[in-house]
Amino acid sequence: MVWQLNFSHGSAMKSIQLCFLLLVVFFTSSQQLSKPGDPTYWAAVVEHKEPDGDNARLRTTFASESFQQIIKDAGDVDIIVFPEHILNSRSTATFVPHESENVTPCYQTDYELFLIELSCSARSNAVYVVINLVEKELCANGAGSDTFKPCPATGVLYFNTNVVFDRRGRVISRYRKTHLWRHEYVETAVLRSPDIATFTTDFGVTFGHFICFDMLFYEPAMKLVRELNITDIVYPTYWFSELPFLGAVQLQEGWAFGNDVNLLAADASEPSGRTTGSGIYAGRGGRLVAEIFEEPTTKLLIAEVPKKEHGQLVPSFTPLFTPQLKTARVTKVATYKDYNVDIFESELLEENFLSLERTLCHGSFCCTFAIARKLTESSEVIGSGAKAYRYRIAAYWGNETTAIRVDRTEQATCALFACTNEHLSSCGYIFPEFEDVVNRHHFTKLNISANFPAAPRGRRLIMPSTLNALFLPVAVSEFDWTESPEAAANPDKPVFVNLNLVRQQNDLLTFAIWANYFTDLPSTHNLDHMHPNFTVPLNSGSAGILVSSFVWLISGLFLVL
Ligand SMILES: *[C@@H]1O[C@H](CO)[C@@H](O)[C@H](O)[C@H]1NC(C)=O
Ligand SMILES: *[C@@H]1O[C@H](CO)[C@@H](O)[C@H](O)[C@H]1NC(C)=O
Ligand SMILES: *[C@@H]1O[C@H](CO)[C@@H](O)[C@H](O)[C@H]1NC(C)=O
Ligand SMILES: *[C@@H]1O[C@H](CO)[C@@H](O)[C@H](O)[C@H]1NC(C)=O
Repeated sequence: MVWQLNFSHGSAMKSIQLCFLLLVVFFTSSQQLSKPGDPTYWAAVVEHKEPDGDNARLRTTFASESFQQIIKDAGDVDIIVFPEHILNSRSTATFVPHESENVTPCYQTDYELFLIELSCSARSNAVYVVINLVEKELCANGAGSDTFKPCPATGVLYFNTNVVFDRRGRVISRYRKTHLWRHEYVETAVLRSPDIATFTTDFGVTFGHFICFDMLFYEPAMKLVRELNITDIVYPTYWFSELPFLGAVQLQEGWAFGNDVNLLAADASEPSGRTTGSGIYAGRGGRLVAEIFEEPTTKLLIAEVPKKEHGQLVPSFTPLFTPQLKTARVTKVATYKDYNVDIFESELLEENFLSLERTLCHGSFCCTFAIARKLTESSEVIGSGAKAYRYRIAAYWGNETTAIRVDRTEQATCALFACTNEHLSSCGYIFPEFEDVVNRHHFTKLNISANFPAAPRGRRLIMPSTLNALFLPVAVSEFDWTESPEAAANPDKPVFVNLNLVRQQNDLLTFAIWANYFTDLPSTHNLDHMHPNFTVPLNSGSAGILVSSFVWLISGLFLVL
Protein backbone atom coordinates (compact mmCIF):
# COMPACT_ATOMS: atom_id res chain seq x y z
CA MET A 1 0.00 0.00 0.00
CA VAL A 2 1.64 3.24 -1.07
CA TRP A 3 -0.54 6.30 -1.32
CA GLN A 4 0.31 9.39 -3.19
CA LEU A 5 -0.71 12.07 -0.81
CA ASN A 6 0.64 15.13 0.84
CA PHE A 7 -0.01 17.60 3.59
CA SER A 8 -0.54 21.10 2.35
CA HIS A 9 0.99 23.79 4.47
CA GLY A 10 1.07 26.74 2.11
CA SER A 11 4.25 27.13 0.12
CA ALA A 12 6.19 24.38 1.90
CA MET A 13 3.79 21.86 0.36
CA LYS A 14 6.10 20.32 -2.24
CA SER A 15 8.91 19.40 0.12
CA ILE A 16 6.54 18.15 2.78
CA GLN A 17 4.91 16.04 0.11
CA LEU A 18 8.26 14.42 -0.70
CA CYS A 19 9.09 13.75 2.94
CA PHE A 20 5.67 12.33 3.50
CA LEU A 21 5.95 9.96 0.57
CA LEU A 22 9.16 8.63 2.09
CA LEU A 23 7.45 8.32 5.47
CA VAL A 24 4.59 6.39 3.91
CA VAL A 25 7.01 3.93 2.34
CA PHE A 26 8.80 3.55 5.65
CA PHE A 27 5.62 3.12 7.65
CA THR A 28 4.05 0.62 5.33
CA SER A 29 7.08 -1.62 5.44
CA SER A 30 7.08 -1.71 9.24
CA GLN A 31 3.74 -0.67 10.62
CA GLN A 32 4.61 1.01 13.92
CA LEU A 33 2.25 1.77 16.75
CA SER A 34 1.67 5.49 16.78
CA LYS A 35 3.25 7.77 19.39
CA PRO A 36 1.69 11.08 20.45
CA GLY A 37 4.14 13.09 18.30
CA ASP A 38 3.65 11.04 15.14
CA PRO A 39 1.69 12.67 12.28
CA THR A 40 -0.49 9.61 11.69
CA TYR A 41 -2.04 6.59 13.37
CA TRP A 42 -3.21 3.22 12.04
CA ALA A 43 -6.91 2.47 12.12
CA ALA A 44 -8.94 -0.57 11.12
CA VAL A 45 -12.68 -0.96 10.60
CA VAL A 46 -14.40 -4.29 10.16
CA GLU A 47 -17.29 -4.92 7.81
CA HIS A 48 -18.82 -8.07 9.33
CA LYS A 49 -21.59 -10.39 8.23
CA GLU A 50 -24.28 -11.75 10.50
CA PRO A 51 -23.45 -15.02 12.27
CA ASP A 52 -25.42 -18.02 10.95
CA GLY A 53 -28.19 -19.88 12.76
CA ASP A 54 -31.10 -19.12 15.07
CA ASN A 55 -29.53 -20.01 18.38
CA ALA A 56 -28.65 -16.72 20.07
CA ARG A 57 -25.91 -18.16 22.25
CA LEU A 58 -24.22 -19.96 19.34
CA ARG A 59 -24.41 -16.81 17.23
CA THR A 60 -22.74 -14.80 19.99
CA THR A 61 -20.04 -17.45 20.45
CA PHE A 62 -19.40 -17.46 16.72
CA ALA A 63 -19.21 -13.67 16.51
CA SER A 64 -16.92 -13.38 19.53
CA GLU A 65 -14.53 -15.97 18.09
CA SER A 66 -14.58 -14.23 14.71
CA PHE A 67 -13.85 -10.84 16.34
CA GLN A 68 -10.96 -12.32 18.35
CA GLN A 69 -9.45 -13.85 15.21
CA ILE A 70 -9.74 -10.55 13.35
CA ILE A 71 -8.05 -8.67 16.21
CA LYS A 72 -5.25 -11.27 16.25
CA ASP A 73 -4.75 -11.05 12.48
CA ALA A 74 -4.97 -7.25 12.22
CA GLY A 75 -1.27 -6.72 12.93
CA ASP A 76 0.03 -3.50 14.44
CA VAL A 77 -2.95 -1.20 14.19
CA ASP A 78 -3.71 1.31 16.93
CA ILE A 79 -7.49 1.00 16.96
CA ILE A 80 -9.98 -1.44 15.50
CA VAL A 81 -13.73 -0.82 15.18
CA PHE A 82 -16.50 -3.43 14.82
CA PRO A 83 -20.04 -2.80 13.51
CA GLU A 84 -23.35 -2.46 15.30
CA HIS A 85 -25.69 -5.31 16.17
CA ILE A 86 -23.56 -8.30 15.08
CA LEU A 87 -22.11 -9.46 18.40
CA ASN A 88 -25.05 -10.39 20.63
CA SER A 89 -28.76 -10.04 21.27
CA ARG A 90 -31.14 -9.70 24.21
CA SER A 91 -30.72 -13.25 25.41
CA THR A 92 -26.94 -12.79 25.57
CA ALA A 93 -27.06 -9.21 26.83
CA THR A 94 -24.29 -8.28 29.23
CA PHE A 95 -23.77 -5.77 32.02
CA VAL A 96 -21.19 -3.15 31.00
CA PRO A 97 -19.08 -1.27 33.53
CA HIS A 98 -18.96 2.53 33.34
CA GLU A 99 -15.45 3.85 32.64
CA SER A 100 -15.38 5.45 36.09
CA GLU A 101 -15.43 1.95 37.61
CA ASN A 102 -12.04 1.27 36.01
CA VAL A 103 -12.90 -2.33 35.18
CA THR A 104 -10.90 -4.75 33.01
CA PRO A 105 -13.35 -7.60 32.28
CA CYS A 106 -10.42 -9.87 31.29
CA TYR A 107 -9.72 -10.45 35.01
CA GLN A 108 -12.79 -8.89 36.67
CA THR A 109 -15.05 -11.50 35.14
CA ASP A 110 -18.61 -10.57 36.26
CA TYR A 111 -19.76 -10.23 32.65
CA GLU A 112 -20.89 -12.34 29.70
CA LEU A 113 -18.07 -14.50 28.38
CA PHE A 114 -17.75 -12.59 25.08
CA LEU A 115 -17.06 -9.31 26.91
CA ILE A 116 -14.33 -11.01 28.94
CA GLU A 117 -12.83 -12.62 25.83
CA LEU A 118 -12.78 -9.39 23.83
CA SER A 119 -11.23 -7.51 26.76
CA CYS A 120 -8.50 -10.18 26.87
CA SER A 121 -8.13 -10.01 23.11
CA ALA A 122 -7.60 -6.22 23.20
CA ARG A 123 -4.95 -6.70 25.92
CA SER A 124 -3.26 -9.64 24.25
CA ASN A 125 -2.87 -7.70 21.00
CA ALA A 126 -2.29 -4.32 22.68
CA VAL A 127 -4.86 -2.52 20.56
CA TYR A 128 -7.81 -0.20 21.25
CA VAL A 129 -10.98 -2.13 20.40
CA VAL A 130 -14.49 -0.68 19.90
CA ILE A 131 -17.46 -3.05 19.92
CA ASN A 132 -21.22 -2.57 19.91
CA LEU A 133 -23.53 -4.80 21.94
CA VAL A 134 -26.84 -5.26 23.70
CA GLU A 135 -26.31 -4.07 27.26
CA LYS A 136 -28.55 -4.86 30.21
CA GLU A 137 -29.00 -2.80 33.36
CA LEU A 138 -31.00 -3.47 36.53
CA CYS A 139 -33.62 -0.80 37.11
CA ALA A 140 -35.95 -2.06 39.88
CA ASN A 141 -36.50 0.01 43.04
CA GLY A 142 -35.25 3.23 41.47
CA ALA A 143 -31.88 1.73 40.50
CA GLY A 144 -30.37 2.30 37.05
CA SER A 145 -30.23 5.20 34.66
CA ASP A 146 -32.74 7.95 33.94
CA THR A 147 -34.51 6.67 30.82
CA PHE A 148 -37.63 7.59 28.84
CA LYS A 149 -38.88 4.03 29.10
CA PRO A 150 -40.15 3.19 32.59
CA CYS A 151 -38.59 0.20 34.37
CA PRO A 152 -40.55 -2.91 33.26
CA ALA A 153 -41.81 -5.61 35.66
CA THR A 154 -38.73 -7.73 34.88
CA GLY A 155 -36.54 -5.05 36.47
CA VAL A 156 -34.14 -5.07 33.51
CA LEU A 157 -33.63 -2.43 30.81
CA TYR A 158 -31.65 -2.94 27.60
CA PHE A 159 -29.44 -0.47 25.74
CA ASN A 160 -27.74 -0.40 22.34
CA THR A 161 -24.21 0.31 23.54
CA ASN A 162 -20.67 0.95 22.27
CA VAL A 163 -17.85 -0.29 24.53
CA VAL A 164 -14.22 0.82 24.15
CA PHE A 165 -11.30 -1.22 25.53
CA ASP A 166 -7.84 0.30 25.81
CA ARG A 167 -4.66 -1.62 24.97
CA ARG A 168 -4.84 -3.35 28.38
CA GLY A 169 -8.45 -4.48 27.97
CA ARG A 170 -9.89 -1.90 30.36
CA VAL A 171 -13.29 -0.36 29.61
CA ILE A 172 -12.48 3.32 29.01
CA SER A 173 -15.70 4.50 27.40
CA ARG A 174 -19.33 3.49 27.07
CA TYR A 175 -21.98 5.06 24.87
CA ARG A 176 -25.70 4.26 24.72
CA LYS A 177 -27.45 4.96 21.43
CA THR A 178 -29.64 8.08 21.48
CA HIS A 179 -31.59 7.86 18.22
CA LEU A 180 -32.99 4.39 17.84
CA TRP A 181 -34.32 3.00 14.61
CA ARG A 182 -38.12 2.75 14.90
CA HIS A 183 -38.92 -0.77 16.21
CA GLU A 184 -35.77 -0.73 18.35
CA TYR A 185 -37.75 1.48 20.75
CA VAL A 186 -39.94 -1.45 21.72
CA GLU A 187 -37.08 -3.29 23.41
CA THR A 188 -34.37 -0.70 23.90
CA ALA A 189 -34.13 2.14 26.38
CA VAL A 190 -32.85 5.66 25.74
CA LEU A 191 -31.28 8.01 28.28
CA ARG A 192 -33.22 11.20 28.97
CA SER A 193 -29.95 13.06 28.78
CA PRO A 194 -27.82 11.65 25.94
CA ASP A 195 -24.34 10.28 26.64
CA ILE A 196 -21.53 12.43 25.30
CA ALA A 197 -18.83 9.78 25.03
CA THR A 198 -15.15 10.46 24.37
CA PHE A 199 -11.88 8.69 25.13
CA THR A 200 -8.26 9.76 24.91
CA THR A 201 -5.62 7.38 23.56
CA ASP A 202 -1.90 6.89 24.23
CA PHE A 203 -1.21 8.04 20.65
CA GLY A 204 -2.49 11.53 21.39
CA VAL A 205 -5.90 11.42 19.70
CA THR A 206 -9.19 11.99 21.52
CA PHE A 207 -12.11 10.19 19.91
CA GLY A 208 -15.85 10.66 20.20
CA HIS A 209 -18.27 7.89 19.33
CA PHE A 210 -21.91 7.28 18.47
CA ILE A 211 -24.02 4.74 16.61
CA CYS A 212 -25.75 4.39 13.23
CA PHE A 213 -28.86 6.61 13.04
CA ASP A 214 -27.28 9.10 15.49
CA MET A 215 -25.39 10.50 12.47
CA LEU A 216 -28.50 12.34 11.28
CA PHE A 217 -29.07 14.23 14.55
CA TYR A 218 -27.42 17.10 16.38
CA GLU A 219 -27.02 15.47 19.77
CA PRO A 220 -24.56 13.91 20.48
CA ALA A 221 -22.87 13.64 17.04
CA MET A 222 -22.63 17.34 16.17
CA LYS A 223 -22.08 18.32 19.82
CA LEU A 224 -18.90 16.25 19.85
CA VAL A 225 -17.57 18.07 16.80
CA ARG A 226 -18.91 21.60 17.27
CA GLU A 227 -18.88 21.97 21.04
CA LEU A 228 -16.13 19.61 22.23
CA ASN A 229 -13.86 20.09 19.19
CA ILE A 230 -13.50 16.34 18.69
CA THR A 231 -11.57 15.66 15.47
CA ASP A 232 -11.80 11.85 15.26
CA ILE A 233 -15.04 9.86 15.34
CA VAL A 234 -15.61 6.14 15.82
CA TYR A 235 -18.84 4.89 14.27
CA PRO A 236 -20.28 1.37 14.48
CA THR A 237 -23.35 1.14 12.28
CA TYR A 238 -26.00 -1.12 10.75
CA TRP A 239 -27.06 1.27 8.02
CA PHE A 240 -30.04 0.97 5.70
CA SER A 241 -28.98 2.72 2.50
CA GLU A 242 -31.46 5.06 0.85
CA LEU A 243 -31.21 6.64 -2.62
CA PRO A 244 -30.52 9.27 -3.79
CA PHE A 245 -28.87 10.86 -0.72
CA LEU A 246 -28.26 8.44 2.12
CA GLY A 247 -26.16 5.55 0.86
CA ALA A 248 -23.85 4.19 3.57
CA VAL A 249 -20.49 5.33 2.19
CA GLN A 250 -22.13 8.40 0.62
CA LEU A 251 -23.33 9.65 4.00
CA GLN A 252 -20.17 8.64 5.91
CA GLU A 253 -17.89 10.46 3.45
CA GLY A 254 -20.23 13.47 3.21
CA TRP A 255 -20.59 13.79 7.01
CA ALA A 256 -16.81 13.54 7.53
CA PHE A 257 -16.29 16.12 4.75
CA GLY A 258 -18.97 18.52 6.02
CA ASN A 259 -17.49 18.45 9.51
CA ASP A 260 -13.88 18.06 8.35
CA VAL A 261 -13.17 15.31 10.86
CA ASN A 262 -11.64 11.83 10.63
CA LEU A 263 -14.29 9.11 10.66
CA LEU A 264 -13.81 5.38 11.31
CA ALA A 265 -17.03 3.70 10.15
CA ALA A 266 -17.70 -0.03 10.50
CA ASP A 267 -20.92 -1.35 8.95
CA ALA A 268 -22.55 -4.76 9.19
CA SER A 269 -22.78 -6.74 5.96
CA GLU A 270 -26.24 -7.78 4.79
CA PRO A 271 -26.49 -6.30 1.27
CA SER A 272 -29.82 -7.91 0.40
CA GLY A 273 -31.19 -6.29 3.58
CA ARG A 274 -29.79 -2.82 2.52
CA THR A 275 -26.79 -2.97 4.85
CA THR A 276 -23.16 -2.66 3.68
CA GLY A 277 -20.51 0.03 3.35
CA SER A 278 -17.57 0.70 5.66
CA GLY A 279 -14.67 3.09 5.43
CA ILE A 280 -12.07 5.39 6.94
CA TYR A 281 -12.29 9.05 5.96
CA ALA A 282 -10.00 12.05 6.50
CA GLY A 283 -12.53 14.91 6.47
CA ARG A 284 -11.94 17.27 3.54
CA GLY A 285 -9.05 14.98 2.56
CA GLY A 286 -11.60 12.39 1.49
CA ARG A 287 -11.72 8.65 1.88
CA LEU A 288 -8.58 6.70 2.74
CA VAL A 289 -10.39 3.42 2.19
CA ALA A 290 -14.05 2.48 1.70
CA GLU A 291 -15.90 -0.46 0.27
CA ILE A 292 -19.44 -1.58 -0.55
CA PHE A 293 -20.11 -5.30 -0.90
CA GLU A 294 -22.73 -7.08 -2.99
CA GLU A 295 -22.48 -10.30 -0.96
CA PRO A 296 -22.33 -10.65 2.84
CA THR A 297 -18.64 -10.12 3.60
CA THR A 298 -16.34 -10.04 6.59
CA LYS A 299 -13.36 -7.83 5.84
CA LEU A 300 -10.84 -5.70 7.67
CA LEU A 301 -10.14 -2.29 6.07
CA ILE A 302 -6.95 -0.58 7.25
CA ALA A 303 -5.70 2.97 6.70
CA GLU A 304 -3.02 5.28 7.99
CA VAL A 305 -4.95 8.28 9.30
CA PRO A 306 -3.38 11.75 9.43
CA LYS A 307 -3.81 13.41 12.82
CA LYS A 308 -5.72 16.64 12.44
CA GLU A 309 -3.23 18.89 14.19
CA HIS A 310 -0.63 17.94 11.59
CA GLY A 311 -2.54 19.60 8.77
CA GLN A 312 -4.90 18.73 6.00
CA LEU A 313 -4.50 15.72 3.76
CA VAL A 314 -4.67 16.62 0.08
CA PRO A 315 -5.36 13.68 -2.20
CA SER A 316 -3.53 14.49 -5.42
CA PHE A 317 -3.92 11.44 -7.59
CA THR A 318 -6.75 11.15 -10.09
CA PRO A 319 -6.61 8.71 -12.98
CA LEU A 320 -7.28 10.18 -16.43
CA PHE A 321 -10.88 10.26 -17.50
CA THR A 322 -12.10 8.03 -20.34
CA PRO A 323 -15.66 8.28 -21.61
CA GLN A 324 -17.16 4.81 -21.36
CA LEU A 325 -20.44 3.56 -22.73
CA LYS A 326 -20.62 0.81 -20.12
CA THR A 327 -19.32 1.02 -16.59
CA ALA A 328 -19.51 -1.48 -13.73
CA ARG A 329 -22.66 -1.19 -11.62
CA VAL A 330 -23.59 -2.30 -8.13
CA THR A 331 -27.02 -3.93 -8.42
CA LYS A 332 -27.27 -6.42 -5.57
CA VAL A 333 -27.38 -3.97 -2.70
CA ALA A 334 -30.99 -3.36 -1.74
CA THR A 335 -31.88 0.26 -0.97
CA TYR A 336 -34.75 2.32 0.29
CA LYS A 337 -36.12 5.01 -2.00
CA ASP A 338 -36.32 8.50 -0.55
CA TYR A 339 -39.99 9.56 -0.71
CA ASN A 340 -39.00 13.10 0.22
CA VAL A 341 -38.05 13.79 -3.40
CA ASP A 342 -41.74 13.61 -4.30
CA ILE A 343 -42.30 16.98 -2.62
CA PHE A 344 -39.13 18.65 -3.95
CA GLU A 345 -39.45 21.30 -6.64
CA SER A 346 -37.99 19.40 -9.56
CA GLU A 347 -37.55 19.52 -13.30
CA LEU A 348 -37.05 16.60 -15.68
CA LEU A 349 -34.10 17.19 -18.02
CA GLU A 350 -34.43 16.43 -21.72
CA GLU A 351 -33.37 12.91 -22.62
CA ASN A 352 -30.55 14.12 -24.87
CA PHE A 353 -29.72 17.48 -23.29
CA LEU A 354 -26.16 18.67 -23.81
CA SER A 355 -26.19 21.85 -21.79
CA LEU A 356 -28.42 23.63 -19.39
CA GLU A 357 -28.37 26.67 -17.12
CA ARG A 358 -31.24 26.97 -14.72
CA THR A 359 -32.27 28.46 -11.40
CA LEU A 360 -34.86 26.39 -9.59
CA CYS A 361 -36.58 27.65 -6.42
CA HIS A 362 -38.57 26.01 -3.66
CA GLY A 363 -40.19 28.94 -1.92
CA SER A 364 -37.46 31.46 -1.24
CA PHE A 365 -34.67 28.88 -1.50
CA CYS A 366 -33.06 28.89 -4.95
CA CYS A 367 -30.53 26.55 -6.53
CA THR A 368 -28.48 27.44 -9.59
CA PHE A 369 -27.40 24.70 -11.98
CA ALA A 370 -24.98 24.81 -14.91
CA ILE A 371 -24.64 21.39 -16.55
CA ALA A 372 -23.02 20.13 -19.74
CA ARG A 373 -22.75 16.67 -21.28
CA LYS A 374 -21.14 15.17 -24.34
CA LEU A 375 -22.25 12.24 -26.37
CA THR A 376 -20.12 9.20 -25.55
CA GLU A 377 -18.51 7.99 -28.78
CA SER A 378 -18.11 4.27 -28.99
CA SER A 379 -17.54 1.55 -31.54
CA GLU A 380 -19.79 -0.69 -29.47
CA VAL A 381 -23.26 -1.19 -30.87
CA ILE A 382 -25.99 -0.14 -28.45
CA GLY A 383 -28.69 -2.80 -28.21
CA SER A 384 -32.18 -1.55 -28.95
CA GLY A 385 -33.30 -2.44 -25.43
CA ALA A 386 -30.43 -0.55 -23.76
CA LYS A 387 -31.46 1.79 -20.96
CA ALA A 388 -30.00 5.10 -19.89
CA TYR A 389 -30.88 7.07 -16.76
CA ARG A 390 -32.99 10.19 -17.01
CA TYR A 391 -32.02 13.08 -14.75
CA ARG A 392 -33.87 15.61 -12.69
CA ILE A 393 -32.68 18.73 -10.97
CA ALA A 394 -34.37 19.58 -7.68
CA ALA A 395 -34.56 22.19 -4.94
CA TYR A 396 -36.05 21.88 -1.45
CA TRP A 397 -36.04 23.69 1.84
CA GLY A 398 -38.53 22.70 4.48
CA ASN A 399 -39.79 20.63 7.33
CA GLU A 400 -41.91 17.99 5.75
CA THR A 401 -39.19 15.41 5.19
CA THR A 402 -38.01 12.42 7.16
CA ALA A 403 -34.71 10.65 7.67
CA ILE A 404 -35.16 7.21 6.13
CA ARG A 405 -38.88 7.23 6.99
CA VAL A 406 -38.33 7.40 10.73
CA ASP A 407 -37.82 10.86 12.20
CA ARG A 408 -38.88 14.27 10.93
CA THR A 409 -36.08 16.30 9.39
CA GLU A 410 -35.56 19.82 8.17
CA GLN A 411 -33.52 19.73 4.99
CA ALA A 412 -32.23 22.09 2.33
CA THR A 413 -31.09 20.45 -0.88
CA CYS A 414 -29.91 21.29 -4.38
CA ALA A 415 -29.60 18.11 -6.37
CA LEU A 416 -29.19 16.36 -9.66
CA PHE A 417 -30.36 12.75 -9.42
CA ALA A 418 -31.01 9.76 -11.66
CA CYS A 419 -34.42 8.31 -12.44
CA THR A 420 -35.23 5.20 -14.44
CA ASN A 421 -37.87 6.99 -16.53
CA GLU A 422 -39.53 10.38 -16.90
CA HIS A 423 -41.76 9.98 -13.83
CA LEU A 424 -40.72 11.54 -10.54
CA SER A 425 -41.71 8.31 -8.78
CA SER A 426 -38.86 6.49 -10.58
CA CYS A 427 -36.16 8.66 -8.99
CA GLY A 428 -34.16 6.92 -6.28
CA TYR A 429 -34.33 3.56 -8.02
CA ILE A 430 -31.62 1.94 -10.12
CA PHE A 431 -32.04 -0.31 -13.13
CA PRO A 432 -32.09 -3.96 -12.04
CA GLU A 433 -29.18 -6.26 -12.76
CA PHE A 434 -30.63 -7.82 -15.92
CA GLU A 435 -31.01 -4.48 -17.74
CA ASP A 436 -28.44 -3.42 -20.30
CA VAL A 437 -27.49 0.07 -19.04
CA VAL A 438 -25.42 2.51 -21.09
CA ASN A 439 -23.94 5.95 -20.49
CA ARG A 440 -25.10 7.58 -23.72
CA HIS A 441 -23.60 10.81 -22.40
CA HIS A 442 -20.92 11.75 -19.93
CA PHE A 443 -20.95 14.83 -17.71
CA THR A 444 -18.38 17.44 -18.65
CA LYS A 445 -19.67 20.23 -16.40
CA LEU A 446 -21.76 20.21 -13.28
CA ASN A 447 -21.86 23.37 -11.21
CA ILE A 448 -24.45 23.70 -8.42
CA SER A 449 -24.78 26.55 -5.98
CA ALA A 450 -27.17 28.11 -3.51
CA ASN A 451 -27.45 30.46 -0.60
CA PHE A 452 -28.20 28.22 2.37
CA PRO A 453 -30.34 30.05 4.95
CA ALA A 454 -29.04 30.89 8.41
CA ALA A 455 -29.74 28.17 10.95
CA PRO A 456 -32.42 29.43 13.35
CA ARG A 457 -31.22 27.19 16.20
CA GLY A 458 -27.54 27.45 15.30
CA ARG A 459 -27.72 23.92 13.96
CA ARG A 460 -26.81 23.19 10.38
CA LEU A 461 -24.55 20.75 8.57
CA ILE A 462 -24.00 21.27 4.84
CA MET A 463 -22.35 18.41 2.96
CA PRO A 464 -21.73 17.12 -0.53
CA SER A 465 -23.89 14.09 -1.34
CA THR A 466 -22.67 12.33 -4.47
CA LEU A 467 -22.92 8.81 -5.81
CA ASN A 468 -21.86 6.84 -8.88
CA ALA A 469 -22.98 3.50 -10.25
CA LEU A 470 -20.61 1.67 -7.87
CA PHE A 471 -22.51 3.22 -4.92
CA LEU A 472 -19.41 5.23 -4.05
CA PRO A 473 -19.21 9.03 -3.78
CA VAL A 474 -17.32 11.11 -6.34
CA ALA A 475 -13.78 11.40 -4.92
CA VAL A 476 -13.06 14.72 -3.20
CA SER A 477 -10.25 15.43 -5.69
CA GLU A 478 -12.86 15.42 -8.46
CA PHE A 479 -14.92 18.36 -7.23
CA ASP A 480 -14.39 21.83 -5.81
CA TRP A 481 -16.38 22.86 -2.77
CA THR A 482 -16.55 26.41 -1.51
CA GLU A 483 -18.44 28.00 1.36
CA SER A 484 -18.65 31.71 1.93
CA PRO A 485 -18.50 32.50 4.75
CA GLU A 486 -17.28 29.24 6.30
CA ALA A 487 -20.44 27.30 7.22
CA ALA A 488 -19.42 25.64 10.50
CA ALA A 489 -18.15 28.86 12.07
CA ASN A 490 -21.19 30.91 10.95
CA PRO A 491 -24.39 29.01 11.69
CA ASP A 492 -26.22 32.29 12.24
CA LYS A 493 -25.45 33.51 8.72
CA PRO A 494 -26.64 32.46 5.27
CA VAL A 495 -23.84 30.66 3.47
CA PHE A 496 -23.20 30.58 -0.27
CA VAL A 497 -22.14 27.04 -1.19
CA ASN A 498 -20.77 26.00 -4.56
CA LEU A 499 -20.21 22.39 -5.63
CA ASN A 500 -18.40 22.18 -8.95
CA LEU A 501 -17.26 19.04 -10.74
CA VAL A 502 -13.64 19.27 -11.91
CA ARG A 503 -13.30 15.83 -13.48
CA GLN A 504 -15.75 14.40 -16.00
CA GLN A 505 -18.07 11.57 -14.93
CA ASN A 506 -19.65 8.66 -16.79
CA ASP A 507 -22.24 7.23 -14.47
CA LEU A 508 -23.59 9.62 -11.84
CA LEU A 509 -26.61 8.67 -9.74
CA THR A 510 -26.50 11.73 -7.46
CA PHE A 511 -24.66 15.05 -7.40
CA ALA A 512 -25.98 17.29 -4.64
CA ILE A 513 -25.49 19.71 -1.83
CA TRP A 514 -27.43 18.30 1.12
CA ALA A 515 -28.00 20.24 4.33
CA ASN A 516 -29.46 19.04 7.61
CA TYR A 517 -31.01 21.77 9.78
CA PHE A 518 -31.64 19.37 12.70
CA THR A 519 -35.29 20.05 13.41
CA ASP A 520 -36.53 20.32 16.99
CA LEU A 521 -39.91 18.83 16.11
CA PRO A 522 -40.19 15.74 18.28
CA SER A 523 -40.60 12.26 16.87
CA THR A 524 -42.78 9.89 18.80
CA HIS A 525 -42.37 6.65 16.85
CA ASN A 526 -45.96 5.88 17.80
CA LEU A 527 -44.80 4.61 21.18
CA ASP A 528 -46.51 5.70 24.38
CA HIS A 529 -43.41 6.31 26.45
CA MET A 530 -41.96 8.58 23.74
CA HIS A 531 -45.16 10.58 23.24
CA PRO A 532 -45.02 14.20 24.36
CA ASN A 533 -47.78 15.12 26.81
CA PHE A 534 -50.51 16.62 24.68
CA THR A 535 -53.36 18.22 26.56
CA VAL A 536 -56.15 20.33 25.12
CA PRO A 537 -57.24 22.99 27.59
CA LEU A 538 -61.00 22.44 27.99
CA ASN A 539 -61.74 26.11 28.61
CA SER A 540 -60.12 27.38 25.40
CA GLY A 541 -63.21 27.68 23.27
CA SER A 542 -64.68 25.55 20.55
CA ALA A 543 -61.69 23.23 19.98
CA GLY A 544 -61.80 22.09 23.60
CA ILE A 545 -65.57 21.65 23.51
CA LEU A 546 -65.30 19.66 20.30
CA VAL A 547 -62.67 17.38 21.82
CA SER A 548 -64.63 16.83 25.01
CA SER A 549 -67.86 16.10 23.14
CA PHE A 550 -65.91 13.69 20.96
CA VAL A 551 -64.66 11.91 24.10
CA TRP A 552 -68.24 11.68 25.38
CA LEU A 553 -69.37 10.36 22.05
CA ILE A 554 -66.67 7.68 22.10
CA SER A 555 -67.51 6.57 25.65
CA GLY A 556 -71.17 6.51 24.64
CA LEU A 557 -70.27 4.16 21.82
CA PHE A 558 -68.44 1.88 24.22
CA LEU A 559 -71.49 1.79 26.52
CA VAL A 560 -73.69 0.82 23.58
CA LEU A 561 -71.27 -1.94 22.58
C1 LIG B 1 -13.29 24.56 20.97
O1 LIG B 1 -12.61 25.47 20.11
C2 LIG B 1 -13.07 26.82 20.22
C3 LIG B 1 -12.40 27.63 19.15
O2 LIG B 1 -11.04 27.36 19.09
C4 LIG B 1 -12.78 27.32 21.65
O3 LIG B 1 -13.27 28.64 21.79
C5 LIG B 1 -13.50 26.41 22.64
O4 LIG B 1 -13.18 26.79 23.96
C6 LIG B 1 -13.10 24.95 22.43
N1 LIG B 1 -13.93 24.12 23.30
C7 LIG B 1 -13.46 23.09 23.98
C8 LIG B 1 -14.44 22.34 24.82
O5 LIG B 1 -12.28 22.76 23.95
C1 LIG C 1 -39.90 24.34 10.39
O1 LIG C 1 -40.80 24.29 11.48
C2 LIG C 1 -40.58 25.27 12.47
C3 LIG C 1 -41.55 25.02 13.62
O2 LIG C 1 -42.83 24.78 13.14
C4 LIG C 1 -40.71 26.65 11.86
O3 LIG C 1 -40.42 27.63 12.82
C5 LIG C 1 -39.73 26.79 10.70
O4 LIG C 1 -39.89 28.03 10.06
C6 LIG C 1 -39.93 25.68 9.71
N1 LIG C 1 -38.88 25.73 8.70
C7 LIG C 1 -39.13 25.77 7.41
C8 LIG C 1 -37.95 25.79 6.51
O5 LIG C 1 -40.25 25.79 6.95
C1 LIG D 1 -20.26 27.96 -10.68
O1 LIG D 1 -21.45 28.69 -10.46
C2 LIG D 1 -21.30 29.78 -9.55
C3 LIG D 1 -22.66 30.40 -9.31
O2 LIG D 1 -23.35 30.63 -10.50
C4 LIG D 1 -20.30 30.79 -10.13
O3 LIG D 1 -20.11 31.82 -9.20
C5 LIG D 1 -18.99 30.07 -10.39
O4 LIG D 1 -18.08 30.96 -11.04
C6 LIG D 1 -19.20 28.85 -11.27
N1 LIG D 1 -17.95 28.13 -11.38
C7 LIG D 1 -17.48 27.69 -12.54
C8 LIG D 1 -16.16 27.00 -12.49
O5 LIG D 1 -18.07 27.84 -13.59
C1 LIG E 1 -45.52 13.85 30.82
O1 LIG E 1 -46.07 14.24 32.06
C2 LIG E 1 -45.66 13.48 33.17
C3 LIG E 1 -46.47 13.93 34.38
O2 LIG E 1 -46.62 15.32 34.40
C4 LIG E 1 -44.15 13.67 33.34
O3 LIG E 1 -43.68 12.92 34.44
C5 LIG E 1 -43.43 13.21 32.06
O4 LIG E 1 -42.06 13.48 32.16
C6 LIG E 1 -43.99 13.94 30.84
N1 LIG E 1 -43.43 13.34 29.66
C7 LIG E 1 -42.81 14.04 28.72
C8 LIG E 1 -42.29 13.26 27.55
O5 LIG E 1 -42.64 15.23 28.77
